[in-house]
Order: sequence, then structure tokens, then C-alpha cells
Amino acid sequence: MVQKKVLSEVAIDDLAAFCKRKGFVYPSGEIYGGLAGFWDFGPLGVELIANLKRAWWQYHVHARNDVAGIDGAIITNPRVWEASGHVANFVDVAVVCKKCGYKTKVDKHELKSAKCDKCAGAYENLGEFNPMFTTQVGPVKKDAQVAYLRPETAQSIFANFKLVYEQARLKLPCGIAQIGKAFRNEIAPREFLFRSREFEQMELEYFIAPHMSCPFMGEVKDVELALYTQEMQAKEQKAKVLNLFDAWKKGVIKSDWHAYWLAQELLWFVSLGARVEKFRARQHTSDEKSHYALDTWDLEYEFPMGWRELAGLANRGSYDLTEHQKASKGSMAVIVDETKGIKVVPEVVCEPSLGVGRAFIVFMLESYEHNPQRDNVVLHLHPRLAPYKAAVFPIVKGEEYESLAQDIVRELRMEWNVLYDKSGSIGRRYSRNDEVGTPYCITIDESSVKKKTVTIRDRDTTKQIVVKIDALKNVLRSLINGELVFEKAGKLVETRVK
Ligand code: GAP
Repeated sequence: MVQKKVLSEVAIDDLAAFCKRKGFVYPSGEIYGGLAGFWDFGPLGVELIANLKRAWWQYHVHARNDVAGIDGAIITNPRVWEASGHVANFVDVAVVCKKCGYKTKVDKHELKSAKCDKCAGAYENLGEFNPMFTTQVGPVKKDAQVAYLRPETAQSIFANFKLVYEQARLKLPCGIAQIGKAFRNEIAPREFLFRSREFEQMELEYFIAPHMSCPFMGEVKDVELALYTQEMQAKEQKAKVLNLFDAWKKGVIKSDWHAYWLAQELLWFVSLGARVEKFRARQHTSDEKSHYALDTWDLEYEFPMGWRELAGLANRGSYDLTEHQKASKGSMAVIVDETKGIKVVPEVVCEPSLGVGRAFIVFMLESYEHNPQRDNVVLHLHPRLAPYKAAVFPIVKGEEYESLAQDIVRELRMEWNVLYDKSGSIGRRYSRNDEVGTPYCITIDESSVKKKTVTIRDRDTTKQIVVKIDALKNVLRSLINGELVFEKAGKLVETRVK
């Protein structure tokens, strides 16, 4: 059970500074001044990112019967990108403000109307460019083949569709998921991990036979989300909180699949502690859709810089499989009716696509509190996301206590990343762990030797319970999985050091 949290507003640059100070994220190659749009994850960042991706995979792949996963190469045959339309149509327009010099990109259709985000000045068009990074395959330049670093993970799902469909014995409706690096030579990388040149995507392509309806709508009957349709945007109205099932029934969201996947994506964030009111779904206007999209809804989040795209959910129709079929001359059709021998080229009715870096920022913002009583930051990360699940401190000096603490750490490390910390005052050790989101601190004292018990302190409330050492692993597992309320997991004792 996640405790109710109180959060503090934090600007994106302050969050970046905090992440650097604590060992989550650093500008890449910082000793040489860094490189815009590239980031390195430090000891805590790498753990948080791994936990975040594991939670996404568990929810989108392991917990479902209809989804299989892959891990495609970053560089593939360049014909993939010709067929997908990325070589010809994946273009940004670079602009610079004539007044303040601010550089950014705009959609083609906005070129005439767009005004500078910073000073409302007019933009000068610097020209179109394709944000795909190119490289050469083969060491001898004159024989080398030009290739691309993938700008989205989706295409290796489409190119491998037939193999995965058959080998994972999938049946429509079904999905193929992938987590992996993507690269875009962004004109103006900015706002910490929000817009980078190297980033990771967690994507799910969900395939159906044409007109197949969503059999899972019953699961989302009670899910509410603020919706911001094309029409509301044109009329400059505000987004409206609607039940997603009703929104689909009333035609506000055209496809049941879109309503279903918007709910799933929202619920994933909420299951890991995010507040529902910080999310909304915004429909793309007809002139901003990607070259492959029939209808797109972005799941947006209210970042410190304003409402921004967190995940994109595009209806890509049969665009990608049809284009690969044409270019490769191989069939992408699958049998949907054995007896009648009916085959179809599946449609991607919805593609939930989420950037790992943007999800990282959201979970940080959804956790960050500067606690005035404790006078330190408390990072209320969901225990499943926290870099360390627990920290173990011997608080009485002596070989006996340290060796018992190390035995406990060794046992817990069979399952989790656990910190052993024996230096500094107990208060200092608690605050160090609060700041990096460790949900449980376990102290070893005289009772641990005499009565075989330890004290566990809860990060969010500072409450403490005593549990038997033999029960510790099970108690911790139940707490991390949200199956036990902290106060009921052991004998509640008075808190001396908060
Ligand atoms: N396959 C569909 C696709 O790539 P997209 O809207 O271009 O669609 C999907 O990207 C998601 O990837 C975005 O919602 C965002 O979370 C993430 N993303 C895209 N470009 C990014 C960038 N330059 N830096 C960080 N994340 C990015």
C-alpha cells in the first residue's frame, strides 16, 4: 500500500540538478562540457530505470496473454526506413527567433503562424531536415553502406511481424512490445531528459483484424480521464474529465481500442503512485498527425513547463505492414479463418509509445518532497521503482552487530538491491536514504542479538515496527508488493529518531 504523499513543486532544471547531485543522471561526457541531448545514468539512475522498464514489461507483456516481446537491432537494413516513409517524410522544420535567437522546431503547417515560445517574436525558417542520424556500415568509406540509427523502435516490430506472430503463436487481436534505444537529431534538445537526442522508448504495437472490436472494454468502465479533443482545442475550450467508456460510447473517442489503451497507460502510471489529475489525453489536430497516423491521442502530463506529451497513442492502420509488404515483396497477411482460408493484413489500431526518460521525470516529480520537519528531500518513489528496496544499519558498535547486519544484507540481496550503511549518525543515515527514495530502513541493535528482531522504519511516515528476523524477508516482500499495510506488518513501536 502506497502511503499518501505530500509533494513539492520543483522546476525541471532543479530536478536535473538534484538528479546529478544524488547520482541518478549526469550530462554525458561532462568532464568535457557534455553534449546537448545526451545523458548518462549514474548508480541510482540505472537502478530506477531498470525497475521502471521491468514494471512496464510486467504490465504490458507478462501480465497479458496477447502480447509477446522482442529486442530489435538499433541499426537495421536501411530499406526498412525507406519503406516506412521515414526517409522521405520524417522531417522537422528548424526555426530561429528573429528577436531573441531562440532555436526550435515547428511542424510544417505552423510555419506561418508560430511565434517564439520565449518572446513571441517571429521565426526565421532555417529549412527542413530529417532528424535520423546516419552512419556507415563497413569500415572502408567508399564501399560502406549508409544506414540509420533507428528513430523509433516500432519498425523492428513491423519488419519482424510475421516471424513473431507465428513463433509466439499469437492470434488477433494481439500485440508485440519492445523497449529500446531510439535516436533523433533534435534541433533543440532541452528540458533535461524530456527532449534528448538519444533516448529509450517502450512501445507496444497492437494488431487487430479490420473492424475487430475491443473485448476488454469492461475492464475500463470506471476509468476517468480529462479529454481534450480536436474540437475543444479549435474552440479554445478546456479539457473535460470524462469516463473513458462513456467517451467511446458517445463518439468522443472514435475507437474502443483507443479508449482502452488510454485507460491502460493511465492506470500503469497510477499503479506506481502517480496522481490521476496530472494527466490528460489530447487528440492530435488533423494537420499535426504523423505521416502514418489515422488518429492520434497523446497522453499528456502537467510538467513544470506545462502540459506536454508523455506518450503517443497513434492509430497507424495497416500503413506499416502494407508498406513493408510492398517494399519487401513478402506477405504480411495472417490467417483469421482457417476453415474459409481468410487472410488479412492486420491493422495497428493503437500504438502506446512512451519515452523512458519522460516516464522517469514523471515518477521523480510524483515523488519529490522537500520535507520541512525533516529538513531534507524525501523521494516518495513507489517501492517497486525505488533503487534500493531497503537499507540495513547496525546502530550499535561491535563486531557481533555488524556481522549480523551483513548476514541479513546477504540474505535480502538474493532478491533485491539492498544498501549496507554503517557510517554516520542514525538520523543522517535515514535522511541519506529518504533522499534517494529507499522505502524501508532496517536497524540492528541489542534486541537483534538477544531477541532475534529488527526494527523497520517507513520512509513516508517515519513510523517503526519490530519484526522477527526469520519473518523479515516475507514482510519486506509483502510491503514492496503492496500486500501489507506497514502498521500491520509488525509490532508498532515509538519512533525516537525520525
Ligand atoms: N513509434 C511512435 C513514435 O515514435 P513519437 O510520438 O514520435 O511516436 C513516442 O514518440 C514517445 O517517445 C514520445 O511520446 C516520448 O515519450 C518519446 N520521445 C520521442 N522523442 C523524444 C525525444 N527526443 N526525447 C525523449 N523522448 C522522446
